[in-house]
Amino acid sequence: MRELLVISEGDSSDSNKEELNVIGDLLVGWKVDRYCDWAEVHRNCSGYLLGLFVVSDKIVEDRVLLEKLESHLRKADGMDWIAVVRPHQFDSPAIKAFLARYVVDYLSFPILGSKEKIEGIFDHLYGMAELRKREDSCVYLDHERIIGNCPAMENIHKLIPKFAASDAPILISGDSGTGKELIAQTLHQQSVRKQERFVAVNCGAIPENLVESELFGHVKGAFTGADRDKKGKIELADNGTLFLDEIGDLPLSQQVKILRFLQEGTINPVGLAEARNVNVRIIAASHVSLEEAMKTGAFRPDLFYRLNVLQIHAPALIDRRADIELLAQHFLKKYRNEGLGIIKGFTKEAINSLKAHLWPGNIRELINRVRKAVVLCETSLISPHDLGLGLVPAEPKYVVQGNLVEARNHVEKATVVGALASNDQNITHAAKQLGVSRMTLYRMLEKHKIVLSDSTSAVV
Ligand SMILES: Nc1ncnc2c1ncn2[C@@H]1O[C@H](COP(=O)(O)OP(=O)(O)OP(=O)(O)O)[C@@H](O)[C@H]1O
Ligand SMILES: [Mg+2]
Repeated sequence: MRELLVISEGDSSDSNKEELNVIGDLLVGWKVDRYCDWAEVHRNCSGYLLGLFVVSDKIVEDRVLLEKLESHLRKADGMDWIAVVRPHQFDSPAIKAFLARYVVDYLSFPILGSKEKIEGIFDHLYGMAELRKREDSCVYLDHERIIGNCPAMENIHKLIPKFAASDAPILISGDSGTGKELIAQTLHQQSVRKQERFVAVNCGAIPENLVESELFGHVKGAFTGADRDKKGKIELADNGTLFLDEIGDLPLSQQVKILRFLQEGTINPVGLAEARNVNVRIIAASHVSLEEAMKTGAFRPDLFYRLNVLQIHAPALIDRRADIELLAQHFLKKYRNEGLGIIKGFTKEAINSLKAHLWPGNIRELINRVRKAVVLCETSLISPHDLGLGLVPAEPKYVVQGNLVEARNHVEKATVVGALASNDQNITHAAKQLGVSRMTLYRMLEKHKIVLSDSTSAVV
């Protein structure tokens, strides 16, 4: 049976009584539970999906009461709320802003629609609340999980348990913010080393003269300022996993030392003649192409081949558009309590702009935009404006990299993706907007390996 929580503050002589009795009579077949104070609601609300309250005139007149009500609703934000409002109360801008932010719907009193119509509204709201609850529980279960089920991510999900079971080095490639470190952590978590440390070293962030001591450690007196023995990151990761992030930034002088460590399984802390045995599993990552770095002499080929035993490529967000909505919903669930109101989701326009944006900062940029939107949003749904995105088609924002051919390709791909997003992935309409034939558009999809985000469309 569908349940409705009704909160009627104050005693039975309260003016809300009339509204609540009418609604109770309308909802035959529902279990309507009344509560008189919020403390009781907070103790019991986890069992309900839908709640209803009446906006009294006292609340309209008294800012403090309104703020109190807001804080109660924030506390009970696992539920969806419906307000009962009298028409004159809409004269208050504060009440209008409050409703936009905290409720999924409101009923205007006196209720004019038929019993069937009102029941229909409640049934729909209950159904929506059920859907949201289901989504929430999935997301919270997999808090730190790698989200995504596009073909490239499915492949990563399949590779991780296989790679985690081996002790061979892994090389993770991918642009900045695509989840390389998350993949490395997940590999560690799923390996037999999971009880031991996962030590991450950002090779690009350590000043060149300190790299050796950071990685290999030093003994007291090894150099000026070395006033005690210090273990290096490699030794700290003994029996666990060492994540060498941005390995492409490692100076050549240290690359040879890492190579020796990989070959011999021993390290020499600075200032110590004898070698120490260390057992670590190496995962390396780089956002620059190590193949290119080898060509310019910035990366040693022998180290590359040592590291490049198992490979994972973290795809750029623009190449996994089908996952954008899922990721955005995931981060909204994660951060939605950071704002003032109760945010239930994104508007359709916001989803379209998310899909059309080019995401130069990848998932990290998506997280930042969603977190900012949660803080700025003044209604229960996040808009393109809250996300700092234009309405579709979004302005192409990109940093030109590489030569002219690469830049041209980049713009062509972005334009095609943008046209598809603003036409709901409809090939005919997108081709029309771009001024090309459907055949040409299909060729472009193939050329740029663009996958249509609509699940009913073919994967090209
Ligand atoms: N597939 C994913 N599902 C959920 N969260 C993700 C996913 N990929 C990345 N993230 C989150 O995005 C953020 C950036 O990811 P991460 O630090 O792993 O990227 P990176 O590739 O190492 O970036 P950089 O090159 O800038 O170091 C992190 O907060 C991470 O938890
Ligand atoms: Mg990283």
